[in-house]
Amino acid sequence: MPVRGRRGIRHSRWSCACAGRVEVFPMELCLSRAVLPAHVGPRGALSAGPLLRWMDTAACLAAEKHAGVSCVAVSMDDIQFEEAARVGQIITIKTKVNRAFRTSMEVGIKVTVQDVLTNVEKIVSVAYATYVAKPVGARKAELEPVKLLSAEDHLEHSLAIERRRIRLGYFQVFQNLMQESSKEDTFEEEGAVSTEFTRVQSIELVLPPHANHHGNTFGGQIMAWMETVASISASRLCRLYPVLKSVNMFKFWGPSFVGDRLVFRAIVNNTFHNSVEVGVRVEAYDCEEWIKDQPRHINSAFLIFSAVNDKGELIPFPRVRPMTKDGMRRYHGAIARRRIQLARKCMLSTKGDKPSDPWEISNQAYLSYSNVAALAHLAAKPGWEITRTLDDIKIWTHEEGDVLSFKVEMQVKIPSPLAFSLLSDFTLRQEWDKHFLTCEVLQAVSEEEKIYYVTSPPRRGHKPRDFVILVSQRRPCKPREPYTVAVRSVTLRAVPPSPEFSRSEILCAGFQIHRKSSSSCTVCYFNQVTSGVMPYLAANLTGSSKSIEDTALECIKFLEMKGSKS
Ligand code: COA
Ligand code: ADP
Repeated sequence: MPVRGRRGIRHSRWSCACAGRVEVFPMELCLSRAVLPAHVGPRGALSAGPLLRWMDTAACLAAEKHAGVSCVAVSMDDIQFEEAARVGQIITIKTKVNRAFRTSMEVGIKVTVQDVLTNVEKIVSVAYATYVAKPVGARKAELEPVKLLSAEDHLEHSLAIERRRIRLGYFQVFQNLMQESSKEDTFEEEGAVSTEFTRVQSIELVLPPHANHHGNTFGGQIMAWMETVASISASRLCRLYPVLKSVNMFKFWGPSFVGDRLVFRAIVNNTFHNSVEVGVRVEAYDCEEWIKDQPRHINSAFLIFSAVNDKGELIPFPRVRPMTKDGMRRYHGAIARRRIQLARKCMLSTKGDKPSDPWEISNQAYLSYSNVAALAHLAAKPGWEITRTLDDIKIWTHEEGDVLSFKVEMQVKIPSPLAFSLLSDFTLRQEWDKHFLTCEVLQAVSEEEKIYYVTSPPRRGHKPRDFVILVSQRRPCKPREPYTVAVRSVTLRAVPPSPEFSRSEILCAGFQIHRKSSSSCTVCYFNQVTSGVMPYLAANLTGSSKSIEDTALECIKFLEMKGSKS
């Protein structure tokens, strides 16, 4: 039986001084530090080491504030560093538990730098870490849910479960990509530099200042030591002081304690024109393990550095040549991680005008995330305006810059799980939506992810349209959360556009289904308007057509008819 953390004892409100004012965010924790000469590296910018230590401290305190017991870092998602901080500037780190799972919780970390003279504040990094409540005796501490106060709390809470999927699925995605690249085992690159030349080893003795009051080494301290070793390794290649750009997602495999000897081994795995990946492996020994040479694997991380010259220009890195079988495997490992990182970047940059992203192993997790996240963001936006009300239907619109979206809210007399299963099967959609002429499953990726090919009837004077869409369906984890069916276009190499159809895009659409009672629910359909949908919406808003209401009425009729039969 799991035991409960001592949550709920403290309800103090947390305050912090930011940009010259005191803001109070009940769920947030705030850590402020002035950047001093001792914190900066040879280039005069704040070193990543102290920053990673502060991030871990602030995140761990937020986790402990929620759990009411000691917590340890279990993993850290990718961290990107966007801005450098200099001596005299103020670093502010805000952390908040976004969601508690069973024994672990996601902590959001936002780092900003503020210039004292100008008051200008810039974002340095936004990161997510996972902490686990330390077991009480032999038993795991089960966490209580996070209290959600604001709309943003709700949004982050719903997205945290999606980020957790990516985290827990990361290793599998990496393995799949490695299998793909393992066929390319030959290496022919003239003038490439041996990676052996970048090998670095260092040892640290864990002392009380490096650990918490339970004697556990701070994760941030380990990360700081890793960064030092990795930057030495990178500098051997560029002969400059390298700048840390990002740290890849990693896991702390086991704890280390005061008195442990930590051995850090680093080597360059690969270079990518203007950046280099250095891998670091950390192993711990207590006195006995030291004599027997039986290390404990604590952590491995992959750090990406760039190098700039005195004019601030990026310096290209030379190509490298791995000299061992392990080196060759790591060389391909770095390519796989780079592919995942680029896919993530591409996915999370929300450009509405780009063609839909290709569905590939490296980006499937992020595509699914962005699909569900985009719908959650759209649904949570403030400023929805009611434009039409019928008995069981309300139509809302939302304008933000040049982005127009609409929402159709329908009251349906069937249980929410049934509405979810009927609406998430897109092959049934032709039964109620006249905009769907044909619909077939192209790939049933998993229970929750399917890719469909859809054709739509021609509009007057136009070719018929077709779509390749990813449908991501999610059941709620808690009773008050909605069911979600998120839809967006993707590109499949096997299904290129054809001359008979005009290939169309869905940026963000889908359903949220809220339970009202055991026999009724509210179905909300969302759609970020594209040129293909615009004529229907415009005609509806100007009163010349009732296409949207008609489709909504058909949808209600279809759901209730199916409900009466089940
Ligand atoms: N990312 C995020 N969460 C992860 C994860 C990952 N890569 N791997 C596991 N978890 C989560 C699990 O989902 C589970 O959470 P849940 O109960 O909410 O579902 C939780 O972590 C525990 O996982 P489990 O597999 O049961 O435990 P474990 O045997 O892997 O041990 C630790 C977890 C944290 C106890 C262990 O890994 C450890 O001691 N790590 C070192 C922690 C530490 O000392 N950090 C500071 C630096 S040394
Ligand atoms: P992998 O070999 O699969 O990458 P490891 O956990 O063994 O995973 O190592 C992580 C990284 O640490 C490696 O990619 C490499 O860059 C570095 N590394 C591991 N072992 C050594 C070593 N003996 N010397 C130098 N660097 C090492």
